[in-house]
Formats: sequence, C-alpha cells, structure tokens
Amino acid sequence: MQLQLQTWVEVEANLRSSRGIILPIGSTEQHGPIGPIGTDAICAEVIARGVGEAAGALVAPTIAVGMAQHHLGFAGSMTLRPSTLIAVLRDMVESLVGHGFERFYFINGHGGNIATVTAAFSEIYAARSLPAGANVQPVKCRLRNWWQNREVLQLAKELYGDAEGSHATPSEVAVTQFAYPDAIKSAPFDPPVAPSGEYTDAADYRRNFPDGRIGSNPGLATPEAGRRLYDAAVAALTKDYLSWVFGSRALPEMNNGIAVNCSSFPRKLVKNTDVREVVTAATAGV
Ligand code: NI
Repeated sequence: MQLQLQTWVEVEANLRSSRGIILPIGSTEQHGPIGPIGTDAICAEVIARGVGEAAGALVAPTIAVGMAQHHLGFAGSMTLRPSTLIAVLRDMVESLVGHGFERFYFINGHGGNIATVTAAFSEIYAARSLPAGANVQPVKCRLRNWWQNREVLQLAKELYGDAEGSHATPSEVAVTQFAYPDAIKSAPFDPPVAPSGEYTDAADYRRNFPDGRIGSNPGLATPEAGRRLYDAAVAALTKDYLSWVFGSRALPEMNNGIAVNCSSFPRKLVKNTDVREVVTAATAGV
C-alpha cells in the first residue's frame, strides 16, 4: 500500500492495526555502461512495494537521492551530503512519529547509504534520549539491504558467481530490467569483468574505474533473472518485516479472540491460510 495513494482517514485507520511503515531508500548515480542512473532507487522501490503488498504494509515515498559523492565524476549522478541525508531522514521519521508510527523499516538499494543511514538512526535515538526524564513512545528503525539476505545472496552466486562484483552488478541491473523492460540497454564491456579495488572521492573513483563498474559484468543481466531476484528479496524481507513489527505479541491476541485486522497480514498468504500459521512463519526469523 503506497502511502501516497491513501487518504489521511485510511492512514489513521491503518495505525490502529499496525505502527510499522516501509521506507525505500536508493540513489541516483551512474551504474556503468548499461545500468540506469536510477538503479538503486528503482530496486529499492519495486522491492519495497512488493513487500508492502505481501505484508499489507504502508510504503512511504522513495528517497531516491542518497549519499553518492564518489559517483559525481559521471554525468547524471546526484548526491546528498551525509549531513543533509541525516537531516532528511530525521525529518521524515519524526513527521511520522507524530502520527503514531513506531517501526521504520528502511529497504535500501545502495551500499553508500549504509553508514549515513545508520548515523541517522543514532541521531533519531539521541534526540529522544537527551531530554531530561524523557519518556517517549518507543521508536525503532531497521535498515535492510535488499541484496544482503541468504536467499538473494545464494541466487546471485548461482547466477553470476564472481562476475557479480560490487557496483553495477548484474543482479541489480537485472531487477531494473524486470521492472522496466522497455529501458534495457546493451554495450560492449572491456574487460568483461571490471577491476575491483578501493576509492575515496569522485576523481579517484573515475581514475580507478573508468566505465563506472566495480568487479562486475552487468552484461549477464536478464529480466528473467531479475524476476527471480525480486521474488527472493520480497519473500525474505516480508518475513523479516512481519517478524519485526508484530513479533510474538500477535499470537496471544489472536488466541484470545481479540479483534485482529487481517489487513495487517500478508494478503496473498492469508487467502488460504490460517493467520496464526502466517504469524508463526513470520516470527520464525530469516
Ligand atoms: Ni547500485
């Protein structure tokens, strides 16, 4: 459920059954010769929407520009400074806390965001801890990188082995091809698998990785593989989200016959399944 397509009345009603919300965060940066500039934002967005659909959860607008200063040597790339991104994340979370949201589940598409998002969480917690005698509602934030769970890692290894690399990977390009089949590009790669290594600023990055890739061969990407990677990511993250937001507290409520709004649980799964089985599966962990 996209937050942007709900009314305030619907959001208020949803808060009675769930205090969680999913926030996709990506980046707008070069992804080598065939990867769209929006690869990281596209992957985070489509996977977050898939999780939102499966979990019956609200999905906030995508944070499409991230911390990508090292990509600025390539046309079209954009960045927020770490301090700016922290301020954006704080304001977004605090806006929603004011309405009663308590669990903020960030689905991330860009490795360069990790340090800054983690720092933003510390800023959010610090602002709640510092006032003397603070006794505020519980707020928890979680960051999950869509490609870093057992299911997706195994599939990427099986599909691409060492050609997966770490930037402009065939996996992320494949997910964009699945999401936007009309925007698939092709180009020659020399060498087929790009070099690996370290970098500092934008000029250093461009010197070390002249076509933008790091350790990868995105020429191996296909929309069919993108579909498999999407399905694996949505399944893993849905399970993780439901377990984190509802945990075991959902079970006693249902056993006591207290009203439980099934819209909080995965629609597809609920269809032919007892809700308790869904929650038991969800709380088993990833
Ligand atoms: Ni990327």
